[in-house]
Amino acid sequence: MSQEFKEKVVLITGAAHGQGRATALAFAREGAIVVGFDVAKKIEYPAYDFGTNDELDSLKAEIEASGGQALVFVGDVRDDQAITYAVESAISAFGHIDILFNNAGICAYGEVDTLSDEAWDAMIDINLKGPFMVTRRVSKYMKQQKSGVIINNSSVMGLRGGNRLSHYVASKWGLTGLTKSWAIELAPYNIRVLSIHPTGVNTPMNDGLAAMEGATPQEIAERSAPNLIDVPWLEPQDVADSVLFLASDKAKYMTGSQHVLDAGLLTQ
Ligand SMILES: NC(=O)c1ccc[n+]([C@@H]2O[C@H](COP(=O)([O-])OP(=O)(O)OC[C@H]3O[C@@H](n4cnc5c(N)ncnc54)[C@H](O)[C@@H]3O)[C@@H](O)[C@H]2O)c1
Repeated sequence: MSQEFKEKVVLITGAAHGQGRATALAFAREGAIVVGFDVAKKIEYPAYDFGTNDELDSLKAEIEASGGQALVFVGDVRDDQAITYAVESAISAFGHIDILFNNAGICAYGEVDTLSDEAWDAMIDINLKGPFMVTRRVSKYMKQQKSGVIINNSSVMGLRGGNRLSHYVASKWGLTGLTKSWAIELAPYNIRVLSIHPTGVNTPMNDGLAAMEGATPQEIAERSAPNLIDVPWLEPQDVADSVLFLASDKAKYMTGSQHVLDAGLLTQ
């Protein structure tokens, strides 16, 4: 097995399940030390299942069982104290954080004339302010190291509009803007910043949206537009593969750019 990320430390938010977990396991298989961070409990909005403590613990156990190293932290990306604790603990344990995957996020439908302040605030605070709050603490160390890669999980919805998804779309376009701006600001420190833009992905988020909408997970995935390549959705492993490529030296001249994993959706 190649160990492309041997001794690299990767911090992943939203690591308990879905895309974050698949990416954590993929990095661990390539020798990286994983620092997982997840709210690991049901929060006020949206009304679907979030990651759990058990999932976070089993992620650590699975990595350790195959000879890897992992630390996991329970915390909300809106909570500076929890973020700071996780980041400082990782630095104390390993001395550096090389890769940050800002992945934690929520999604829900809502019409503009009935969207509550609470729904708007939760969406923007978790999906847009959250990556800022985590990057604020991590980039300090990356700047000192003069190296790092930050990958933001936006969405195809960070590059187009979406029906009944305006607050989600706003948060994801915002993340695209943060990607470009941080890339400029952090380039002098040898830190690359990129965003990924997946089409529907087969995760608990998609299942949760389906349950809330009284639809099948497949209908939710196909709601935005049909993918050009005939698949209903991506698997979390497909996202992990792209994140590992972007974090690797093979992508050393890529920064500030938007990487679509959209099965051709945005082409139409
Ligand atoms: N599933 C899709 O179809 C899809 C498509 C494109 C982009 N995305 C984006 O990909 C990212 C991951 O999505 P997923 O499909 O794996 O979702 P998911 O809901 O399956 O998993 C998200 C994880 O993030 C955690 N999380 C949520 N809010 C948090 C918070 N405030 N603080 C800390 N952790 C929190 C959850 O507990 C969960 O473990 C999200 O940013 C999402 O917007 C998802």
